[in-house]
Parts: sequence; structure tokens; C-alpha cells
Amino acid sequence: MTKKFQSIKGFYDVTPDRQRLWRFFEKEALKVLDQYSFEEIGLPIVEPTGLFVEGVGTHTDIVEKEMYSWEDKLNDDKLTLRPEGTAGCVRAVIENSLTYNGPIKLFYRGPMFRHENVQKGRQRQFHQLGVETFGVESPDADAEQIILLSRLFKNLGLSNIKLELNTIGDSEDRSQFRKALIKYFEGYKSELDKDSLRRLYENPLRILDSKNPTMQTLLDKAPKLVNYLSDEARTHFDLLCQNLDLNKIDYVLNPRLVRGLDYYNRTVFEFVTQELGSQGTLAGGGRYDYLIENLGGNHTYACGFAIGIERIVLLLEGDVSHKGIFRPDVYIVNVGSKARKLVFNIAEELRDLNVNTLLNIEGSSIKSQMKKADKSGAKIALIIGDNEVEKNEVQIKFLRRDSPQVTINYNKTSLYIKENL
Ligand code: HAM
Repeated sequence: MTKKFQSIKGFYDVTPDRQRLWRFFEKEALKVLDQYSFEEIGLPIVEPTGLFVEGVGTHTDIVEKEMYSWEDKLNDDKLTLRPEGTAGCVRAVIENSLTYNGPIKLFYRGPMFRHENVQKGRQRQFHQLGVETFGVESPDADAEQIILLSRLFKNLGLSNIKLELNTIGDSEDRSQFRKALIKYFEGYKSELDKDSLRRLYENPLRILDSKNPTMQTLLDKAPKLVNYLSDEARTHFDLLCQNLDLNKIDYVLNPRLVRGLDYYNRTVFEFVTQELGSQGTLAGGGRYDYLIENLGGNHTYACGFAIGIERIVLLLEGDVSHKGIFRPDVYIVNVGSKARKLVFNIAEELRDLNVNTLLNIEGSSIKSQMKKADKSGAKIALIIGDNEVEKNEVQIKFLRRDSPQVTINYNKTSLYIKENL
């Protein structure tokens, strides 16, 4: 018996119906990124493990338990499949001196890997489109990225997406806040769940992120970081909010938003939807002004975000208006060997004219081909059988509008179609 293989848990194929929506997302995203002059950078999928330990943080879920890491026995290198893109992008910026001539705006896309519990919207291999701005201290860099994302969601036709915004201050502000949080939670240890107890002394800010319903009242009453902010951090955040107000971007201030990666300071934000259950964060990001120097570069201001592409595709799937994306313009129905020879030529002529053409090469009955033509979503069915070949003619049927079928001369077919699409 031959063995049948299956993809491993959390790793998925992107079937053509999903890939179609994926391409729609990428097309719109690339258009918007061009409009804002972000440039693409290609990054490796494998990086030294230390990059993520130093960059993302020892006490994060990612580094503690989710990385796909191994030792390359050929040269003893400790390697990791990237769990996220920012650390690798920073490494590349430092290694290639990309900020030598001043600020730079970059984006990247591709697979990321985290050994997480699998559920709807949460895979072990998933894909991100990440955007990073290096070298700009002003909150206008943060604002520009948030405005870009809002435009992208609008262009994708996605509504009911909420922007949550917060500032987590600078490291000095946070260390004061951290002390206050530990003191507060120590008074309520019996109410903390297992994860929160584990985080109490390692990463108490992450306790604020907990979705555990039994802890919500406790979390609501916890000290607020906003009361520990320096004047500089507060002004930075106020200016960001003013900019967003001016550009009519709606947001909700969420003082409990801290994000799960350690490199952030000041701005943090997430775009969330209610429509995907517990995995509703579509994009997340913020400022990370100290990561570049922590990874061996010169002090460089930075901010960025990443979108989870699978989650966008899930949302697009639920939206019927996207079902017909990338339809062929013309479906060629043909019967008989003589007709087949001719239609190959017509199909090529149409493609020369940029008309997307689906030529039936399976050879079934006219009736069944007509059904397929309709199902394909094409605007026009071009029909040719031996009868038409003899008369040097083709039949044109408009599938999406109410006009009579027409017979036209074979030599005029492609131009006629181009003009009548
Ligand atoms: P993150 O919040 O870890 O941030 O991931 C960004 C987005 O990737 C999430 O909002 C979500 O849509 C998607 N995502 C994350 N994990 C999974 C998963 N297991 N399955 C499916 N989708 C997932 C970062 O990765 C930062 N590097 C973002 C950033 C860039 N910050 C600054 N610059």
C-alpha cells in the first residue's frame, strides 16, 4: 500500500479560491504602499536564533515556547525559522547600512512560523505583510502608517474594523509602572490565573493583555501606565492623536493594550475585528526606538506594523462581494478538432489585446461547456463548432447582459470582443 501524506498541523495549502482573494489583497496593498513610497526589502526566512532572543525578548511567548529552532550540525549554528519580521528587517538595515542616507521606509512579506495552539485564524505557518519606517522621531511616522492601513482596509472593502491605540511610554516610565503593577497584583495573587502568576515578576505588563474573563475587573482597576508617562512621551502621543483626529481616523484608546513583543516603546496599536472570534487582530504594531541599538546598530528611531494575511483572507471570504474577483473576460466554447485549432489562434489574439481568456481544452458537449462558461463568471462566451468553422464564423453570447447572441466573421472576432467587453 502506498502511503498518503498530509500537511503538518498548523501548516496549510492556499487553495485557488483563497489564493484569488490573497492576490486581491496583495494587489491593493502594493498599490497603497506605492502611493506612500514604501520600498520592498527581501529577507531570509532563517535567521540566527539569538536575533529573536535579543530582539523579541526572552520573556515573550514567542521566545519562551513558540520558536522553530534547531542546530545546524554542519557548522554548529543555532538557527530559527523567523517568528516575525521586524528583528530580521532591523538586522538587514544595520548590515546593509540602509539608513546611511537618512530615513527609509520599507516593507516585506512572506511566511512566519510560531508553534502556537492552532485554531481559526491562528496557524503555525502564517504570512505577514510588514511595514517599517526607520529614522523618524516625529509621531508623523506613526500617523502615516496608521493612515495607510486605514486606507488599505477601506480599499479592500472591509468595514467594522476598530483601531485600538495606546502608549506604553519609554523604558524609564515602564520600569516605574512595572513596580506599581507588581505591587498591585501581589495584593491579589489568588485571583491571578496560571499564566499571569508566571508573568508576575518576568513581564507583568503582559498580564494586562489577558482575555481571561474572571480577571477583567482586577485588570480594570490596575494602575494605568498613562499616569507614569514622561512629558516627552505624553507629548509624542498627544501629537499622534491630534494628527489622527485631523485626518478623521477613528480610534479607541485602550490603556491595557501592551502587545506581545518586548521591543515596543511609546505608540502601540492594533486593528481588530469582531468577526473572527478570539483571533480578531488583523494588524498590530508600534514604535521601537531602542531595538536597533539593542541589536548593535546606531540609535535610530523606528516604528512599524504587520498585517496577518490569512486573517484578511478569512474576512474577505465572508464577504460575498469579493467572490467574483479575477474572472476571465471570455470563455471559449468549442466542439470538434477543426474548431480547436482555430480557437487556439483566437485565444492568443485576445491575450495579445489583454483580454483574459479561458479556453475550454477538456472537450465536453456544448451544453456542459456553456454551463462552465456561466460558472466561470466570464462576461462573454465565444462559441465555435464545425458548422461555424465551415462558414468562417463564430457565435458571441453575452453572459452578463441582456443582448441577443450575434454571429460574426472569424477574422473580426478578437477586435469585436475587445470593443464589446
Ligand atoms: P504580531 O502582533 O505578533 O506583530 O503579528 C502581527 C499580525 O500577524 C497579527 O496581528 C496577526 O494578524 C498576524 N499573526 C500573528 N500570529 C499569527 C498566527 N499564529 N496565525 C495567523 N496570524 C498571525 C509582529 O509580528 C510585529 N513584527 C509587528 C511589527 C512590525 N511591529 C513593528 N513592526
